[in-house]
Amino acid sequence: MRTHRIAVITGDGIGPEVMPEAVAALTASADADGGFNLAIETLDWGSERYLRAGSLMPDDWATTLGASDAILAGPVGDPRVPDDVTVWGLILRIRQHFAQYVNLRPVRLFPGIAGPLRSAGVDDVDIVFVRENTEGEYAGIGGRVHRGRRLEVAAETSVFTREGVERIIRHAFEYALEHDRAKVTSITKSNALSHTMVFWDEVFGEVSAQYPAMPCDSMLVDAAAARLVTNPAAFDVVVASNLFGDILSDVGAAIAGSLGVAPSANLDPTGGHPGLFQAIHGSAPDIAGRGIANPVGEIWSVALLLDHLGEAAAARRVERAIASALGDPANRTPDLGGSAGTRHLGAAIRAAIGYGARPGSDG
Ligand code: IPM
Ligand code: MG
Repeated sequence: MRTHRIAVITGDGIGPEVMPEAVAALTASADADGGFNLAIETLDWGSERYLRAGSLMPDDWATTLGASDAILAGPVGDPRVPDDVTVWGLILRIRQHFAQYVNLRPVRLFPGIAGPLRSAGVDDVDIVFVRENTEGEYAGIGGRVHRGRRLEVAAETSVFTREGVERIIRHAFEYALEHDRAKVTSITKSNALSHTMVFWDEVFGEVSAQYPAMPCDSMLVDAAAARLVTNPAAFDVVVASNLFGDILSDVGAAIAGSLGVAPSANLDPTGGHPGLFQAIHGSAPDIAGRGIANPVGEIWSVALLLDHLGEAAAARRVERAIASALGDPANRTPDLGGSAGTRHLGAAIRAAIGYGARPGSDG
């Protein structure tokens, strides 16, 4: 039988609460499927390690993670550690090192969940963000001089390469075709950013011309932010630069009911490196330790992980279980207007995964 090696980084804040639910869902999906095994290695990397040992990850982190088929990561961030230290010490480092140039972020309104938009129904909020993940505004090139003086300067350079822009846009079109989506929208700001975003638009024009069967359009990022709120049904697959994709995917998660629900997959589609799967929410120190964090973002990330490993049936099983568990108001956590705890919702999803495994009930 196939064995998938999964590296698990539990993370900070609510990580130790949501991750056990995600790992349990993963294990349950393997049991229910019966076609594959898991070899799970749990790594205690993150801010506690930084405070104890001076770095978020050990020196040989790339070798350890490189030996896995997929990485499941919790949120990283701690009030005692500067955010840019945690972010560049772990998550952005992993994304860049493993060339995970696609950040795939689906958002949808699950049946029964009342999102913040009065008029939006389940069919209106079903968007997949394809965010560029290794360059753009997050390239990490820049510096600061004359600290604390009047002539202090800080500069951060956006980097857009032809290869980087082309491959992310191509991925969005391939994804849209493969998943029967209706449209690809490119997010731009070429009215103001006359170098990088004019270039982005040109490349979008070239690549989209190679997909004549897929409708597409282009929207300025500020207008897109507003449109997501006023008419989310206008969006299907959205392709955006690193920063624009970061911001818009949070708006997308919010209109889908809660940041706690949205998952992400950081992928190197060439297959050369493991992918990294994580909820898009942060470590939420304000609610950490209270047992009320929503585990769905992390559990849905498990579904994306299974998909990427070629376990589509198991992935669908997890997704169906999430939808069915959330359908019962008694299973909803406070961010979704309910009063269930993290473990209660996790257990309900697990039960639904198992139920799906019974002979004859696996639609
Ligand atoms: C995300 C997060 C990260 C990002 C932060 C933690 C650097 O907001 O995954 O969306 O901006 O990429
Ligand atoms: Mg973000």
